[in-house]
Amino acid sequence: MKIAVLGTGSGARAHIARLAGLGHEVHVGTRAPRATLARNEPDMMGTPPFGTWLAGHPGIELHTFADAAARGELVINGIDGRNAVAALSGAARQLEGKTLVDYAVPYVYDPDIEHPWPTPWGVMPTFDPCDSDSLAEQIQRALPATKVVKAFVTQEQETVVDPEAVGGGDHTMFVAGDHADAKRAATGLLTSYGWTDVLDLGPLVAARGMEMYAHLHSAIGFALGFGTRFGIKVVR
Ligand SMILES: NC(=O)c1ccc[n+]([C@@H]2O[C@H](COP(=O)([O-])OP(=O)(O)OC[C@H]3O[C@@H](n4cnc5c(N)ncnc54)[C@H](OP(=O)(O)O)[C@@H]3O)[C@@H](O)[C@H]2O)c1
Repeated sequence: MKIAVLGTGSGARAHIARLAGLGHEVHVGTRAPRATLARNEPDMMGTPPFGTWLAGHPGIELHTFADAAARGELVINGIDGRNAVAALSGAARQLEGKTLVDYAVPYVYDPDIEHPWPTPWGVMPTFDPCDSDSLAEQIQRALPATKVVKAFVTQEQETVVDPEAVGGGDHTMFVAGDHADAKRAATGLLTSYGWTDVLDLGPLVAARGMEMYAHLHSAIGFALGFGTRFGIKVVR
């Protein structure tokens, strides 16, 4: 299948490598391909430049966001949450009629707030939108002809693409969206990654809970120690 991954961050790279390994034709989207390939410094989290990473993954094509979206039959959104609506709106025509699986978090970095939450990597970001709206719903409103599914967001993407690495795969992944066929497509992708417990949370409004879970995910990560892989299981 032709799958577009919009984004070049560490999460996107996990999907790109796994999808290619599964035999899919992967098209990666970035703002400006030449500028992305020209970068030669790690980012602030120490992630190596995309060009360096890509050199170790032959056969992956890099395009603008819109060109990658045009080539994908299914599209994954890994664009930084604050910029996702604007960037995806620029590819609205290319995304028409397609399933867009969104895993971004609408983080606001370095917030100026009265009661900051100190973390090992600075003050915990806040969310915008939060509680009464979600990034996924904003994307769906901006792209009414696209079928948005929220998924993946409750895990590190390394675990999303390799669930069996945690607890033998016995943990839960969530999907939410307003289009049943798009949720089936996202669930099919998750099954191919190895997920056996995919819980459909219903309409896209449930993305509010999935995005806000990011704070608990971080807190669990701090408690377990940096780099510890973990999952969550809904016991019922
Ligand atoms: N990494 C994970 O495991 C994980 C897990 C759950 C949720 N998330 C969330 O998922 C989202 C993506 O995460 P990620 O780690 O894959 O990547 P990321 O480093 O958060 O974002 C990188 C992508 O955002 C794009 N971007 C940044 N600023 C932009 C702007 N002003 N306009 C347009 N595009 C812009 C970059 O474009 P260029 O390619 O042009 O640089 C790049 O493709 C984030 O919201 C993150 O919080 C990540």
